[in-house]
Amino acid sequence: MKDLYQREIDYMRISITDRCNLRCKYCMPDDISLLSHNDILRYEEIIMVCKVAAQRGIRHLKITGGEPLVRKGCTDLIRGLKQIPGIEHVTITTNGVLLKEALPALRDAKIDGINVSLDTLDSGMYEKMTGKDVFSKVWDGLMEAIRMGFRVKINCVPIQGYNEDSLIPLVNLAKDYPVDVRFIELMPIGYGRQFGAVSGDEILKQILLFYPDLEKSEEKKGFGPASYYTSPSLKGSIGFIEAVHHKFCSRCNRIRLTADGYLKTCLSYKDGIDLKKPIREGASEEEIGILMEAALRKKPKEHHFGQMEDQMENRRMSQIGG
Ligand code: 5AD
Ligand code: SF4
Repeated sequence: MKDLYQREIDYMRISITDRCNLRCKYCMPDDISLLSHNDILRYEEIIMVCKVAAQRGIRHLKITGGEPLVRKGCTDLIRGLKQIPGIEHVTITTNGVLLKEALPALRDAKIDGINVSLDTLDSGMYEKMTGKDVFSKVWDGLMEAIRMGFRVKINCVPIQGYNEDSLIPLVNLAKDYPVDVRFIELMPIGYGRQFGAVSGDEILKQILLFYPDLEKSEEKKGFGPASYYTSPSLKGSIGFIEAVHHKFCSRCNRIRLTADGYLKTCLSYKDGIDLKKPIREGASEEEIGILMEAALRKKPKEHHFGQMEDQMENRRMSQIGG
């Protein structure tokens, strides 16, 4: 599926719940009003949307939340998605709290990769940032996932005044294990606006002090916009995703399905197309496909974080799915 700017759209992120078992300060710091059960797309509805999307060229799916593993049957959904003709990869982004228990089922479902969100290896700082004292659960899940041979990426959002001292210990994980450690620039979405991001250039400078032979890698990894660095002393690589400061909109390959069934074509804008209502009114796959194509024609050329406040996304990341 190509959009108006000739971008090939082959990747869809699917938020399966807006609920989360953590309360990260920059994402979901309080108990917010949550969608009710009936507002959320049922698994068979998600499968239908993905089937239609696959017919139109979507090849890679990412399951996100909220925290996807808090929704019952998440691994069954993944198994179903893997069986859709045309879908080549299904991966998940999780905070890792429930990961260890889910690993056998994820293996059976043949998941293609697991991204663990982990901002620090210091359990005190972990609790400060996430509101929950569960670092050791995440660590155990992460270690077990690596041991079982999954493709694992770690996503860290560096925040001024919080986890700045945690970045090198996270980088060291890529020395000890074959994992990619990625630093994701905090985006000015929802509560994220109240915190200060740390720039990728600054982090890179710090890392170079410890790994002076770090080099930019041209190899493409995954389906996203990260730029990667490698070093002979690292088993994994180090990635940077800077949506705001190094805009990658011209290479954007993605759309998003929110938990309540909106198809969003850009993270930064609030508009989207409601697929839930037509699905529940009995729309055919063909009709959903036509809606999807119409949504794609509205995919903006680029984001304008910091401008055009009225059109900007005010929902929280947990409601959209990262
Ligand atoms: N900017 C960047 N990443 C964010 N996340 C949540 N809020 C933001 C934000 N404002 C990340 C979490 C997790 C993923 C699901 O989204 O850290 O890695
Ligand atoms: Fe793609 Fe929108 Fe993100 Fe830009 S801001 S990379 S267009 S989703």
